[in-house]
Amino acid sequence: MLYHHGMNVKEEIDKLTAELKIYQDKYYKEGVSLISDNEYDRLTDRLIELETEHPELQHPDSPTKRVGSDLTNDFPEVRHTIPVLSLDKAYSDEAVLSFFSKSIDKEGGALSFAAEEKIDGISMVLYYEKGILQRAVTRGNGEIGNDVTPNIMTMPSVPLSLSEPIDIAVRGEVYLNKADFERLNNEEPDESRKAANPRNLAAGTVRRQKSSEAGRVPLTIFCYEGFWSDKTETPPDHLHILSKLKALGFRTNPHFAFFASSKKEAEEKLSEAGLEGEAYSFDEIDAFIKKKTAERKNLPYEIDGLVFKINELDVRESFGYTEHHPRWAIAYKFEAPQAEAKLLGITVQVGRTGRITPVAEITPTKLGGSTIRRATLHNQEYIEELELAIGDTVSISKRGDVIPAVESVIEKNEEGHTTFVLPPDCPCCHTPIIQVGGLQYCPEYTCPDQVKGRIAYFASADEMDIESLGPKTVGDLYDAGILRSIEDIYTADYNQAASLPGFGEKSISAIENGVKESLSRPFVTVLSALGVAEIGKKSAEILVKNGFDSIDKIIAASDAGDPSVFSSISGFGELTGQRIIEAFRSKPLRETIEGLRKAGVHLDATMDKKDEDEDLEQIFSGEVWCITGSFRNFNPRSKALKEIEKRGGRTVSSVTGKTTHLLAGTGGGSKAADAERLGVKIVDEDEFLRMIGMEDEKDEADENGQLRLF
Ligand code: IVH
Repeated sequence: MLYHHGMNVKEEIDKLTAELKIYQDKYYKEGVSLISDNEYDRLTDRLIELETEHPELQHPDSPTKRVGSDLTNDFPEVRHTIPVLSLDKAYSDEAVLSFFSKSIDKEGGALSFAAEEKIDGISMVLYYEKGILQRAVTRGNGEIGNDVTPNIMTMPSVPLSLSEPIDIAVRGEVYLNKADFERLNNEEPDESRKAANPRNLAAGTVRRQKSSEAGRVPLTIFCYEGFWSDKTETPPDHLHILSKLKALGFRTNPHFAFFASSKKEAEEKLSEAGLEGEAYSFDEIDAFIKKKTAERKNLPYEIDGLVFKINELDVRESFGYTEHHPRWAIAYKFEAPQAEAKLLGITVQVGRTGRITPVAEITPTKLGGSTIRRATLHNQEYIEELELAIGDTVSISKRGDVIPAVESVIEKNEEGHTTFVLPPDCPCCHTPIIQVGGLQYCPEYTCPDQVKGRIAYFASADEMDIESLGPKTVGDLYDAGILRSIEDIYTADYNQAASLPGFGEKSISAIENGVKESLSRPFVTVLSALGVAEIGKKSAEILVKNGFDSIDKIIAASDAGDPSVFSSISGFGELTGQRIIEAFRSKPLRETIEGLRKAGVHLDATMDKKDEDEDLEQIFSGEVWCITGSFRNFNPRSKALKEIEKRGGRTVSSVTGKTTHLLAGTGGGSKAADAERLGVKIVDEDEFLRMIGMEDEKDEADENGQLRLF
C-alpha cells in the first residue's frame, strides 16, 4: 500500500473516494477506462475494507454504493414529500387533439407542449439533499412508497451527487432494455423465475434483497420531472427543467418532441433551452403519433404510449390537479383497453414452488372470442402500481394473446375499498409469507397447495405423463389422505378412492395403469419431473449430456459441495450450481428420491434403454420396412424407423423386391407406386399406430377445462 503510505484512515478514504469517483464518471459517462480493471478492483476492495471498519467515515455518495452489498434489504415505507401522481389516459388521436385544444381554450392564450415517450418501466422518485442522493422511493400509492435506495444506487445512470448542492426530488422511469431482458431471462434456468416482460424483471430487480445482485442487472433510468424545494430555483417551463436536469447529471430521454403553434416557434424554444429534439406545429400531432407508433418496435426499450405535457409551469399551476392526475398532461396509450370489467375479488394462489400469485376475479367478460373470469395480477407490487381495490372498474387485455391481465383502473370503487394488500400469511398453510426479489413466497415445503402442485407437476403430460392423474384428481386424492407426496404415487392404494365422488372402478384402474406405465419414463424425464427449481426440461437434458446421467452422480456432486461442477456447464448461469446443490442436499427431496428408487422409477439413464426395448413384443421380426412422406406423430421421420427397429424390423431406404412393408405418410413420392407394382404392403399412419399400440397425439384440454393461467 505504498501509494497511501503515511495517510490516516480518513485521508485514505477521502482520497480513494475522490479517485474512484473520477474513474467511474469517466467510465460510465464517456466509456473511458483510466486504469486497468485489476487496479480499479484493488482500489475498490480497499475502500470497501476501510468503510466496513469505519462506517462513520463513509461518504454518503461513496463509489462503493455502485457495487451494492450482500446485506439483506428491507424496503421501509416512506411518505413522499411531493405528490406522485399518475396520468389521465387517451386512446385515440382525437382525444389527444381535444386535450390540446381544450387546454389552449382554457388558457385563452399561447401554449406549448412537450411530447415524451411513455417508458414502460418502474416509476421512481429520487430525493437529493444538498446535492447528495438521500433516498430512492417507488411510487407506491402516490403518497407512500418503498425506500429502495441501495438497489437504485447501483445504477450508473443515477447520480449519487449532483453538480450543485441543491434539494430536489426527481421523477423518472427505471427500465431494462429489451436485449438485456432477453439475455437475462434466457440465462435464468428456473421457469418459475422467468419474467414475463422487461418491466416485470425491472420491478423484481428494484426489490432484490441484495443490492449486489441488483447491481448485476443493467437497469437504467430516464428522468422527466424535477421538483425544487426552493421554488425560486424552479425553471419557468418543462424545457428548462429538462435542460437543468441534464446539467445536474441526470439521464433524460433524447427522443423528445416539442409542439408549438408553428414549427419555427417550437424550434426556437428548443434551441433557447439548449435542447435537441424534434420541433412540430400543432397540426402535426396526428402525423407524430403515427410516426411514433411505427417506430415503437425498433426502440431498444419498451414504451406503452406517449406523454403530452403543457410546457409552461405557471399554466400547470393554474390548471391544477384532480385527485389522481394533473390536468396539464395526458398519456396517449398505444393499446386501447380491450374490455372493461368489475373486480369482484382477489384470490391468492400458491404454486408448487411456493410462489404466491394474486388473481383477479372479475365479472365475466368477452375478450378475443372467450369469456374471461380471472386475470393474473403477478404480485403485490403490480397491485400497488395499479392502485387496485376490490370493486374498481378495470380494463382487461390479453397480453401476448394468452394470459389475460388487468391493465389499469378505469374507475375507482365507491364503497371505500382501498388498495388490496396480500395477506401476511399463506392462504393455504398460514405460514408467514416471505419476499424474494419483489415476489412473494410461502416458505413451507409441506404446504398442502405446494405439495399438490408438485405431485400434479410430476404427473403432468409434459413430465411423467401419468394418465388420469390431473390436478383435480391429485387434489382430491391428497385431501382424502391417499396421496401425500410424489413418492406416494407408486405406493398409494387407489382403491381407497372408490368411495369418493367421481372415482369409479374404471377411473381407478386408469390411474393404476398410468402409474405403472410411467415407470418406464427415461431418467431425463424423471429428473425434470422432480420440479427442482433450477432443473426444467432443457437443463435436465444438459445435465445428462454433461455426464450427470444418474441421480446418484448428481447427489454425490451436491454433497461434495462445489457449485462450479454445475455452473461451469455451458448454458448454466452463475447461481444455478448453488441452487442445485441446495436442492439435492435437502431432506424432503432425498426422501422423494429414495421412494422413487424403491418403486423402480428410472434414476439412472442406463435403465432407460433396457426397459423400453426389451419389453417390446418383436412384432416386426423378419420384416423389411421402407418409409415415405411425413407424419403427424413422427417428426422427424426417424422416430418411426426407431419404432420399427425396436420391434425387430429392418429398415431400408428404397423399395425393392425384398421390402415387405411401406409406411406411407402424407405427400410421399414415387415409392408408393413402386410398392404397388412390387406387391409391397402399404401401411398408413393410422394403421401403423394401431400396430404398435400407440395413440394419436392430440391436444388435450386441461383437466378441468379451465384456462391455464400460469
Ligand atoms: S409524467 C405528474 N412522463 O407513466 C407527472 N410519466 O401514468 C406524471 N411514465 O407514473 C408523470 N414515462 O411512471 C411522465 N415521460 C414520462 C413518463 C411517465 C413513463 C410513467 C410514470 C407515471 C405513469 C403515468
